Amino acid sequence: MCGIVGYIGTEDVKEIILTGLQKLEYRGYDSAGIALYQDESDFEIFKDKGRIAHLRSILEDVPSTLGIGHTRWATHGEPNKVNSHPHTSSNERFVIVHNGVIENDDYLKEKYFSNVEFRSETDTEIVVELLNYYFNKYGAVDVAIRHLMNRLEGSYALGIIDRKNPEVLYAVKNKSPLLVGVGDGFNMIGSDAMAMLHRTNSFYDLEDQEYAVIKRDSIELYEITGAKLVKEPFTSNLDPNDIEKGTYDHFMLKEIDEQPFVIRRIIQEYEKDGNLHIDPEIIADVKEADRLYIIAAGTSYHAGLIGKQLIENIAGIPVEVHISSEFIYNTPIISKKPLFIFISQSGETADSRAVLVKIKKLGYKSLTITNVEGSTLSREANHTLLIHAGPEIAVASTKAYTAQIAVLSILAYMVNEDNEIDLHHELSLVATVIETLCDRKELMEELARKFLSETRNCFYIGRHIDYYVALEAALKLKEISYIQTEGFAAGELKHGTIALIEKGTPVIAVISQEDINLNTRSNVKEVRSRGANTLVIALDSICAGTDQVVIDDVHPLLTPLVTIVPIQLIAYYAALHRELDIDKPRNLAKSVTVE
Ligand code: F6R
Repeated sequence: MCGIVGYIGTEDVKEIILTGLQKLEYRGYDSAGIALYQDESDFEIFKDKGRIAHLRSILEDVPSTLGIGHTRWATHGEPNKVNSHPHTSSNERFVIVHNGVIENDDYLKEKYFSNVEFRSETDTEIVVELLNYYFNKYGAVDVAIRHLMNRLEGSYALGIIDRKNPEVLYAVKNKSPLLVGVGDGFNMIGSDAMAMLHRTNSFYDLEDQEYAVIKRDSIELYEITGAKLVKEPFTSNLDPNDIEKGTYDHFMLKEIDEQPFVIRRIIQEYEKDGNLHIDPEIIADVKEADRLYIIAAGTSYHAGLIGKQLIENIAGIPVEVHISSEFIYNTPIISKKPLFIFISQSGETADSRAVLVKIKKLGYKSLTITNVEGSTLSREANHTLLIHAGPEIAVASTKAYTAQIAVLSILAYMVNEDNEIDLHHELSLVATVIETLCDRKELMEELARKFLSETRNCFYIGRHIDYYVALEAALKLKEISYIQTEGFAAGELKHGTIALIEKGTPVIAVISQEDINLNTRSNVKEVRSRGANTLVIALDSICAGTDQVVIDDVHPLLTPLVTIVPIQLIAYYAALHRELDIDKPRNLAKSVTVE
């Protein structure tokens, strides 16, 4: 979590850093800060609790050609001015911004600084103090950085300024993502490419335990040993327009509307000579596995549950789906020939990465399904399948979920080419059906108003594959509207939870499968007779006259791709009616890089 940006060049740095930080707000947005530097006397830090817009409002005009900025998702210490970054060493010589978590901060504090009174509650202040300690001991910043890296345990992407030397910006990385942007007459650092796209699309990737010494016109990359690295920069093909809202009020609505386009792009990207295609090496590894282990968090975990249905039904390989933060400590007995599939929009989720590190040590193979090319999970797995959703900016994931499922369906299909499905056609149909659903926003807005404007709680219910959709539906609604929502297996309600149903409780049923249609409808009747306000989302061929949302039929295994769309829209409008910050819900961040 947290995002960092830095710039060294000849132009005024303030706007460059603020624009970068704005692009990184998805990584956390409870506080923000910036250090602006011209020379030793012209140096200012502005920071406070609140968003980048607030930071902008408190900034003064300090001429500056070197700067670092930070947007925070608090881990150590509450969001307030003192805990906001940048932080300085007690002698004010070194200034740093930090994304990550230092695990041995208490130990370092006690060992080196038992007499130092720290100003903040953060782990970052200890990092900058330790840097200063090593600098005083060894007399050179790069040597101090290497000692620092050897001492720190945990994750860190650091941007560092030495106030005595305005010619250099330092960048240090372990576990948290960090790129160095290559410019003409300037250079930059940033937590991701989007933070720098307004100035450059050429980047060096820093690997773990590497650091960079960056000047206006040079970039030198080093290993922790001090050995110089030779790397080629890569060019990002991200389109800067993809990260703008355009005519939309919110990224979430834009991203919901993009889903038909994303599904069509996936078909194109995975097509070769008119047929769907996946790298044969990946298919061989999947076929060779006796069991697949899908590892993911949040919405990606929910996509994984659908993936299990797709792979088991189409490819006939057993699949287990695990929440990454659970798997790491509560590891099941692993089969003889497993393949691990990591699903992650960002490719940076620390919980998932911890599992990847663990299974690699055990010698198992892995495949990452992600939206972000070159992300940590992608680089570190044996294989990658991209979901081609384009940047997803809203914290609540929408198009990445459907894109993950679409790619999983292609994977399942390619593993068993003898299957009867014309997947190319079925996915095209899905894209068209999503389009028709996106055209029915008025209905979804009305349903959100009718069912959710007053309520404090809500239930989504479903059976079979619809149950997994109900889980994602509940997450979508609760994370942006703050309505306490549970996704429940429809048949399980009567085993206890039905006690919560009272007059007016909204219960939304998802019904997409013929074999469970009548059973789920019985459950709807059970809750309605106890006072629930019921809403049914059903496929056309099995709908009843009273169902409020009827969706054109698609292949039974692909129904989550369409049933989720009205659910996403209903969540959006529920949050809109409550006048909440839809793209940046409280307490959340898009890329969860702490365990
Ligand atoms: C919810 C949401 C999160 C993410 C989760 C995993 O809308 O976006 O639940 O799905 O934090 O993130 P990734 O997919 O980046 O690993």
